[in-house]
Amino acid sequence: MTSTWLDSPARYGRITRFLHWTIALLLAWQFLGMIFKVTLGRRHELTSLFASDHKAIGTVLMVLIALRALWALAQWRRRPRYPATWLGRAAGAGHMVLYLAMLYIPTVALMREYGRTGALVIWGVEVFGERAEAVPWLIAPASASHGLMGWALFTLILGHILMALVHQYHWRDQTLTRMAGRSADTGAG
Ligand code: HEM
Repeated sequence: MTSTWLDSPARYGRITRFLHWTIALLLAWQFLGMIFKVTLGRRHELTSLFASDHKAIGTVLMVLIALRALWALAQWRRRPRYPATWLGRAAGAGHMVLYLAMLYIPTVALMREYGRTGALVIWGVEVFGERAEAVPWLIAPASASHGLMGWALFTLILGHILMALVHQYHWRDQTLTRMAGRSADTGAG
């Protein structure tokens, strides 16, 4: 595999960037759907458009986020390092919280789907079949926290975007460029 696919200390590789932007797009879709649901109501056509596939897109996200976390671990020693300052450490901690929230939210939702009596069918494929009796301990974590943690993740992502813009336009330090496509080291992606 050529080095443009992998991360390097100067920039993120194609695989990291593909996973980052695909997840960003699908998360934006999920949040738009839920924002329309709470502001315009379930029956509005925008809610139908963006939220009717919430479970299916959430399940795809679960797979992509798990791959992203595994890929981040595999590339750990190659990728750009956080500066050894309090801001660098805060960025590292913030990214860790983002990963944990992104993994937690779809995981508990899928546990709830597995524990309830109805089947989970995604685009015609039965992921979990029906069961005779619900399993309360599989359902409880999502019922208590899926939505709440979802909105917490939304707030974290707004902070993440704000910091990326501060890096790019205030500190002008190439941080967004490293994830946005052009390589900071070669000028080619
Ligand atoms: C990273 C992926 C996901 C995110 C960011 C996300 C986010 C959210 C948010 C913000 C809400 C709104 C809570 C509210 O009404 O205030 C919600 C509701 C919900 N989510 Fe997710 N979710 C994800 C994945 C999933 C998955 C994988 C499933 C199931 C397979 C799922 C099932 C649900 C259900 C059933 C609701 C309640 C929807 C309704 O009120 O109609 N979610 N989610």
